Amino acid sequence: MNVHASALAEAHLPDQQTSVFAREAIGDLSQRPKRLSPKYFYDATGSELFEAITRLPEYYPTRTELSILRDRGSDIAALIPEGAALIEFGAGATTKVRLLLENCAISAYVPVDISGDFLQDQANALRRDFPGLAVFPVAADFTAPFALPEVITLAGMPKVGFFPGSTLGNFEPHEACAFLRSAREILGKDSQMIIGVDLEKDERVLYDAYNDAAGVTARFNLNVLVRINRELGGNFDLSAFTHRAIYNRERHRIEMHLISKKSQSVRLLGTNFAFRAGESIHTESSYKYSIDRFAALARGSGWTPRASWTDKAGMFSVHALVASD
Ligand code: AVI
Repeated sequence: MNVHASALAEAHLPDQQTSVFAREAIGDLSQRPKRLSPKYFYDATGSELFEAITRLPEYYPTRTELSILRDRGSDIAALIPEGAALIEFGAGATTKVRLLLENCAISAYVPVDISGDFLQDQANALRRDFPGLAVFPVAADFTAPFALPEVITLAGMPKVGFFPGSTLGNFEPHEACAFLRSAREILGKDSQMIIGVDLEKDERVLYDAYNDAAGVTARFNLNVLVRINRELGGNFDLSAFTHRAIYNRERHRIEMHLISKKSQSVRLLGTNFAFRAGESIHTESSYKYSIDRFAALARGSGWTPRASWTDKAGMFSVHALVASD
């Protein structure tokens, strides 16, 4: 038994998801530089902290994307075929999809998210508020290939993917390409995609958005260590790590790090991880695109750009793509 396998055996892990988390956390903390996947931010506390981030004065993406969806609602509606099925990759708050449902002739909605309970609540609320809408939630990891529900209602409908929030920015460029290719496969021939992408901008604005004065982003970042302590029996001392977010100009991305304030050792599932003072765990990258760089990514990933919209200040973009032949 290797060190990771014996660590997992020692932990008496309750379910498969926890063991995947354990395996990834141990593997990622064994890398140089150390890292953790941003997907583990979103436990119940992390999801609440993220919702709080979206309301911060410094965090412009959410409200700016909403303003584009609102102001350009009729332009977007004009591109969506009548009776379309809207497939949302990841199901957050329903605010954004509601704007599309209000403006466009959409007959079915397929939210896809790993959290089944959340999906059902969301589906029920939308069924109540849009009585004519057929809702087919799919509990799946949308970053991996999955199948659309095999129901006759969906079969003949034009498919439109929806991926708001610049979640694509949290993927490495090769992962973003793989995601777009997989979405193209799932949605099929003649499908379309509406996707929100954060734009490059003044570095100070970017810096402030990820270093808010109230410290909510810092709590969001540190919460991944709280989660490791709780779910994987780790002994991270939260007061010995600090949040740092910087803009990496060469790579067009905000990087979030947790910096060890001192030389220390942390134990997790039977494995010790040594930290030097100042050593980082890279917890998230948030890539920022120009319209042209995003269009090039889309073209190289099975999609043809059809239209794009930005707010007046050019902070955020929403793109309509159509599946390439
Ligand atoms: C979810 N995602 C698009 C957010 C972002 O801006 O990259 C996550 C986030 N991280 C820190 N603040 C917000």
